[in-house]
Amino acid sequence: MEHLAFCLTFLLSVTIFLASSATASEDDQFIYSGFFGSNLTLNGAAMVTKDGVLELTNGKPDYMGYAFYPSSWKLRGLPDREVQSFSVSFVFGIASVDFNGCPNSMNFSIHQGLTNKSMLAIVLEACHQDNNFQENNDNDVSISIGGKSSAKSPAGFYDGKSGIFNNLPLLSHNMMQMSVEYDLAATQINVTLSPLEMVKPLRPLLSLSLNLSTVLEDPSYIGFSASTRIISLRYSVLGWSFGMNRPAPTIDIAKLPQLPRVVDPKRQSKLLKIILPIAMATLVLLVGTTVILFVRGRMRYAELYEDWEHEFGPHRFSYKDLFQATEGFHNKNLLGRGGFGKVYKSVLPVSKLQVAVKRVSHESKQGIKEFIAEVVSIGRLRHRNLVQLLGYCRRKGELLLVYEYMPNGSLEKYLYVEADKTTLDWAQRLQIIKGVASAIFYLHEKWEKVVIHRDIKASNVLLDNEMNGHLGDFGLARLYDRGTNLQTTRVAGTLGYIAPELARTGKASPLTDVYAFGIFILEVTCGKRPINNCSQDGPKMLVDWVVEHWQGGSLTDTLDRRIQGEYDADEVNLVLRLGLLCAHPFCSTRPSMRQVMQYLDGDMPLPELPPINLSYSMLALTQNEGFDQYTSLPCTVSSNGMTFSLFSGR
Ligand SMILES: Nc1ncnc2c1ncn2[C@@H]1O[C@H](COP(=O)(O)OP(=O)(O)OP(=O)(O)O)[C@@H](O)[C@H]1O
Ligand SMILES: *[C@@H]1O[C@H](CO)[C@@H](O)[C@H](O)[C@H]1NC(C)=O
Ligand SMILES: *[C@@H]1O[C@H](CO)[C@@H](O)[C@H](O)[C@H]1NC(C)=O
Ligand SMILES: *[C@@H]1O[C@H](CO)[C@@H](O)[C@H](O)[C@H]1NC(C)=O
Ligand SMILES: *[C@@H]1O[C@H](CO)[C@@H](O)[C@H](O)[C@H]1NC(C)=O
Ligand SMILES: *[C@@H]1O[C@H](CO)[C@@H](O)[C@H](O)[C@H]1NC(C)=O
Repeated sequence: MEHLAFCLTFLLSVTIFLASSATASEDDQFIYSGFFGSNLTLNGAAMVTKDGVLELTNGKPDYMGYAFYPSSWKLRGLPDREVQSFSVSFVFGIASVDFNGCPNSMNFSIHQGLTNKSMLAIVLEACHQDNNFQENNDNDVSISIGGKSSAKSPAGFYDGKSGIFNNLPLLSHNMMQMSVEYDLAATQINVTLSPLEMVKPLRPLLSLSLNLSTVLEDPSYIGFSASTRIISLRYSVLGWSFGMNRPAPTIDIAKLPQLPRVVDPKRQSKLLKIILPIAMATLVLLVGTTVILFVRGRMRYAELYEDWEHEFGPHRFSYKDLFQATEGFHNKNLLGRGGFGKVYKSVLPVSKLQVAVKRVSHESKQGIKEFIAEVVSIGRLRHRNLVQLLGYCRRKGELLLVYEYMPNGSLEKYLYVEADKTTLDWAQRLQIIKGVASAIFYLHEKWEKVVIHRDIKASNVLLDNEMNGHLGDFGLARLYDRGTNLQTTRVAGTLGYIAPELARTGKASPLTDVYAFGIFILEVTCGKRPINNCSQDGPKMLVDWVVEHWQGGSLTDTLDRRIQGEYDADEVNLVLRLGLLCAHPFCSTRPSMRQVMQYLDGDMPLPELPPINLSYSMLALTQNEGFDQYTSLPCTVSSNGMTFSLFSGR
């Protein structure tokens, strides 16, 4: 504990002090404004600095220091008199040299006689303990009588106007003023603490009813004591005044020496040892975090961009834009998942255009250049029944394709709704079939190059606001073809839509598209999947089922039962027969898309399907086994050479 003790001990003579240079001339009062040249009785670590500061401890731990007024006081005056009123005022500052440690205190005390036992002490306890970041701070002022604490309060002051208590940290390096007043008539002792620049508060911090006549005998010594135990505090007293039966003379703040800056080398090394590493660590952390964030930002939006892509610039989207437009490819924006990857709905930042972003993962670089070139050229394809490809973005192992957004989603959703739910009516279905047909026709014949879709199916037909069918996903199957190495024999396309010759040779042609379109027509009209697993004798092909009905003369019975409202039986009949024609196992029997358009529009009568006694899948099998020489003939758009009648005899 470090204490500042004020001790009064009376000896006989009072006049001695007149000689003391630093004291006031009158015998019932004194004032020190700084202690330079003063005649204090110093003991232990206490000393007066060349600036005139009374330092009770020098900042080293485990030291004690005393400073007493050089002579004793007779507070009673005469043995039978009571202890007279007196008043003490002093200015002090406590600075910590070390960071931690307890207990510490400074006493202002009045000692009795020549004993070192203090009879009355005002104890200032300043303690800062930081035990594993659990702070335990003592910051108290107490009145101690004969070594026993009689009144205690946290250090602070009561505001003159509001009366609100304000804490005042003793260990603050700030100068503070304390006054101790004893009133004989009231037998009361008041202790007041305040910041130096403040007028002394009216309400004392501590007020104790006490008859000092029962405590003190003459003579008394008054002075300060302080001790440092574990921690190193510097207790400095800058000014001190005393008055008996009168107020203590006012200490002139302007005359006071400066509270010494704590420049203890230990503290400096502490600074270096603790603050500097922390500062360095913080700096390193900050720089590191910035770099990481920066790199992560770069990585996050990192794209692959190669020289050959310059010419495709206008079709290239920035990954950052797409990332932000999809809210970081958040699941809530997920529209669906396909064979190539996930599709996200997004709104482009500037144009506010709604788009669908398909994330396609691709590992191989092989063919990517050709593919991008194709994507871009596909982007130039414009048809009202195609899902417009707006552009692309490329990253490592990832390709992003940006499509126009189709509010009503996939056609599949409408075809395979649960029973009873309203699905598409016949007019809508016919409109979709016609739309998709014109899109394929456009791809095959209307554009500068022949574009083979390779993956025509209900799930690749998306619906706009007005339930118009838009064919999507063109070209992607090609990527699959090229991206995968040649050993894997996956044939691009979807099971059930793959023409027999495509399955055998892996070569796509416009007529393999026509085959898939035929299956698509049947699917849309019958509301059944191309391959149904429901039957007892294994999977049943939709096309075979329709062929059976056709052979049995009940073709229109295959129409989706859920179709409500009016429908034209001739139209249904035509569409079903067209489906069978397109999905014929022999590519040479299939019509071109141009012909399909003419049949659908009624510009040309649909040729009669030759009678067949076999299901299509059986026919496909026989084709594989025995008629290679015919079917391996190239199937071209215009091939009409082979007629169905060739095989009809079987
Ligand atoms: N342009 C788009 N507008 C709105 N929704 C879309 C769009 N493109 C795709 N979707 C949605 O995302 C889902 C998945 O589309 P995607 O085309 O990847 O799959 P798929 O066609 O079912 O399979 P695959 O990729 O094998 O062709 C679709 O079913 C559809 O609901
Ligand atoms: C200081 O005080 C002591 C005793 O109280 C006295 O002997 C001494 O002469 C004093 N010195 C001065 C300079 O006043
Ligand atoms: C009082 O304490 C001081 C300093 O520790 C010591 O020098 C002195 O002898 C003590 N006096 C008595 C009476 O115990
Ligand atoms: C201050 O006073 C308290 C209570 O009287 C006492 O326990 C403590 O040792 C004193 N400290 C000093 C430095 O005199
Ligand atoms: C002590 O403070 C009280 C107010 O709390 C005041 O009434 C009293 O006069 C004060 N006594 C002295 C000696 O200042
Ligand atoms: C204080 O104590 C003295 C001695 O015990 C006594 O004579 C005096 O009356 C007391 N004063 C008061 C105000 O109680």
